Amino acid sequence: MASKSSALTDRRSSAGDYLKFLHAWLRKPRQTASIVPSSPHLGRLMASQIDPQGGLVMEFGGGTGALTRQILATGLPRTHLEVVEINPGFARNLRRDFAGVSIIEAPAQAVLGQCTGGEGAYQCVISGLPLLAMSKTLQSAIVSEAFRLLRPGGAFIQFTYSPRPPLAESVADALDLGVERIGTIVRNVPPATVFRYRRAADIAAMDSTQLAF
Ligand SMILES: C[S@@+](CC[C@H](N)C(=O)[O-])C[C@H]1O[C@@H](n2cnc3c(N)ncnc32)[C@H](O)[C@@H]1O
Repeated sequence: MASKSSALTDRRSSAGDYLKFLHAWLRKPRQTASIVPSSPHLGRLMASQIDPQGGLVMEFGGGTGALTRQILATGLPRTHLEVVEINPGFARNLRRDFAGVSIIEAPAQAVLGQCTGGEGAYQCVISGLPLLAMSKTLQSAIVSEAFRLLRPGGAFIQFTYSPRPPLAESVADALDLGVERIGTIVRNVPPATVFRYRRAADIAAMDSTQLAF
């Protein structure tokens, strides 16, 4: 059970995270897209999609580390996680709070040249980016970059505040992606739904393997 002092430290750090978020949102509302960080419940559902023994994971849009914390809580080694964050203040704090995790201060749509794993090396991309608020052109650039990073069978995990998939259908179709709904978390402000995107060919191959047994 958590001690009283660690519970107090947790409360203080989450109050600090709320203030940092609010400050970032006031400066760049479209980029930050929320006035509060994700809840641990949402972080746990996102993180349940990774295999802690399955190799490299990339996180897009680390913010104050709400998802990062839950990804590491799965037991994934710190050296197997890389986090992309465009906001320099958030990137600096992530480096301070998550020693041993590689923090890349860059736009998610242009990260391939700066990550350690490179093309086709990642089991999963966990995204906290505000995809729904982005243009189709930017959505396409970001998700194309994610699938350049992902190995065959790899998944792009995205939450959204809408019950509908966050990626425009025309963008998903052009990239030949299939989408599945993982679940909805009502204990989040606002309630959020998690979706998993995979290459349509990978989904078909997995379905036919399951049918064979
Ligand atoms: C809705 S917040 C989510 C933060 C955190 N993952 C969470 O769930 O609480 C979106 C984050 O994505 C970052 N971001 C927005 N556009 C980005 C981009 N193109 N590349 C990298 N980070 C971006 C913002 O600075 C912000 O920290």
